[in-house]
Amino acid sequence: MSESRKVRVAILYGGRSAEHEVSVVSARSVMAAIDRSKYDVVPIAITKAGRWTLPEKTPDELEAPKGSLPGTGEDGTGVALMREPTGAELKPLAGGAAMGAVDVVFPVLHGPYGEDGTVQGMLELADVAYVGAGVLASALGMDKEMQKQLFRSRGLPVVPYVHVHAEDWQRGAESVMELAADEIGLPCFTKPARLGSSIGVSRCTTPDELRAGVELALQHDSKVLVEKAIAGRELECAVLGNDEPEASIVRNASTASRRISSVTLSGRGAGMRSSLPSSIYFASKS
Ligand SMILES: Nc1ncnc2c1ncn2[C@@H]1O[C@H](COP(=O)(O)OP(=O)(O)OP(=O)(O)O)[C@@H](O)[C@H]1O
Ligand SMILES: [Mg+2]
Repeated sequence: MSESRKVRVAILYGGRSAEHEVSVVSARSVMAAIDRSKYDVVPIAITKAGRWTLPEKTPDELEAPKGSLPGTGEDGTGVALMREPTGAELKPLAGGAAMGAVDVVFPVLHGPYGEDGTVQGMLELADVAYVGAGVLASALGMDKEMQKQLFRSRGLPVVPYVHVHAEDWQRGAESVMELAADEIGLPCFTKPARLGSSIGVSRCTTPDELRAGVELALQHDSKVLVEKAIAGRELECAVLGNDEPEASIVRNASTASRRISSVTLSGRGAGMRSSLPSSIYFASKS
């Protein structure tokens, strides 16, 4: 690669998960922030059906009715990322000229088939550099139950929980309800084990709400968690780097809407804002 050539970045967004629209919004932010003097950007929209396409509209141009977030739609020329002797190349599926090499892929995807190691595995096979966590870290980061087991094994405290598989619920919802009452109690939170952006999450204060919460979460995942409701602060910290990772400052994450009701949280990530928690800020200064 000559020194003057810009780095060619393929930005993947959309995708098959229930967080498709959240990803479109994240792609808008990434595409607005990326330094165009250094990077040549190729947007690739993954439709809800899972097709990789060269989009007709950029994420910014996509529109949505008021109160909802935009999706990619199913249109657009199909494209594939192929491993060629010279490196990874994008090729339109309809034939025609290859679009040239891709130096790095930036998966701006949320949820299953994006954040869970599956796309990362495909990119490993294509032998192309990509942004973000690798296969194992992505898979562990996506699965809240496996993540808790890992944290526990390293002596970190985790919020008490039980996990429920769809089969357990089908075979004996009543035994699951008893287990949850004994181990967790009320109020509690129910959530899909492998999703994000508060989709399918409920706060439950009665047995009926618990039942409805488990059923809602099971619509999104075959494994769900019933977690004790705690009063806590949600903190976020980014880590950048491989062999010598660097951590960012820690920030308070809070949803713009503080209303958490027994119905599904509708935050969908779009309302997240963060601020520096003063105790942590002062601790880092002293
Ligand atoms: N055990 C709990 N106690 C109190 N509040 C909770 C609990 N679990 C979830 N919540 C509330 O619901 C929100 C969403 O839950 P959580 O962060 O676990 O799922 P998610 O946002 O869908 O997943 P991810 O953070 O992986 O994207 C939290 O930000 C918090 O406000
Ligand atoms: Mg969350």
